[in-house]
Amino acid sequence: MKKMLIWFIGSLILMFVLLLGISGRTVEVDTNIMVEGLDNETAQILYYGSLAPSSHNAQMWKTDVYPDEGKIVISLDESRALPAVDPLKREMYISMGAYARSCILAFEAYGYNASHHVSDNGQTVTINYKKNGNAVDEGLIALMKRRHTDKRDYTDSPIPELFQEGLHGIHGTTFYSKHSDEYEAIKKETLAAAADQQNNQSIRDELADWLRFSNGEVTSKKDGISADQMGMSGFKKALYYLFVSRESAKGDKFAQQGYDMAVSQTENCGGFIVIADNDTPRDYVNAGMRLMELWLYAVRNNVEMQPMSYAVENPERRIALQKSLKLITPPQMILRVGFVDSVYGENIPVRRDLKDYITVTRK
Ligand SMILES: Cc1cc2nc3c(=O)[nH]c(=O)nc-3n(C[C@H](O)[C@H](O)[C@H](O)COP(=O)(O)O)c2cc1C
Repeated sequence: MKKMLIWFIGSLILMFVLLLGISGRTVEVDTNIMVEGLDNETAQILYYGSLAPSSHNAQMWKTDVYPDEGKIVISLDESRALPAVDPLKREMYISMGAYARSCILAFEAYGYNASHHVSDNGQTVTINYKKNGNAVDEGLIALMKRRHTDKRDYTDSPIPELFQEGLHGIHGTTFYSKHSDEYEAIKKETLAAAADQQNNQSIRDELADWLRFSNGEVTSKKDGISADQMGMSGFKKALYYLFVSRESAKGDKFAQQGYDMAVSQTENCGGFIVIADNDTPRDYVNAGMRLMELWLYAVRNNVEMQPMSYAVENPERRIALQKSLKLITPPQMILRVGFVDSVYGENIPVRRDLKDYITVTRK
């Protein structure tokens, strides 16, 4: 009897450990790049383009491809908007700009000349592409595949002067080192805005809708924020998936943990980079394009980055920040930057199937 009980409890523990092992495994999303009417090379290019960052990983873009004309037209997918946190669609346009720049870079990496035009009202980005050579720039593709958001704590190591100087080449970006007055101002507004969001139930609910709570949900939805993207792995990730649900993620305890994490993230970094630009949809798209360039520049220099958007998601705090940073145009993106103690972070891409948002029109 006693032996049976030990065997039973042992089996239960083994099953529990196995379960933790399975849900703690790194998730692998199999993005299908096949689209009817699209050749393999263009499909591959557009997949690399889709590795661009987007708010809540909502991937809120639609792409019309005209292969016979060598043209793609990118627009917003309104069904993937974030009305609670982004009521003016500012971050939607920024995300669309980042995606457009990412597609252009991917075309260039595959030996194409790619020119673009952002419509006056910022609603579309048209890219014209033409094959110019067969050499593939593997270095650029590798950079795009490596880019990721890293939410872990960064060390106190200063950001090298050389890296800071290189930022002058990316219009509208400014670096503020840790402990500078400007860094303190960004930290203050960020945490005040994080506290506002902590008390805003619609923003909490919206975030919970885009968080993912199992490897299965990540591989089926192919969007949103997985535990892996939040910097969790192994046992920690398994426990998160075991104990946090969509319902509990809407609650006070989870909101408090989010705020505590923001406190730690603002303190554990080498500084902030701000991208500023005017407040029109067209300028948001352009800011998104520069976000993509900046990010790849950071990857090339092994500098980790994470957007911290709380302060720019709040109109009053955004303007207050513009004043204290003495910026000519309002801040559009705030990114914490720094180095990690361990190895440079890995990108664990969660991206939708191309056919879900790409339409091909042949003559
Ligand atoms: C406009 C915009 C705002 C973002 N804001 C935040 C943010 O406040 N906090 C954060 O951790 N990540 C933020 N991100 C990063 C996205 O969550 C991230 O790009 C997305 O989950 C895809 O992950 P990846 O960048 O690792 O590919 C933002 C990205 C964009 C484009």
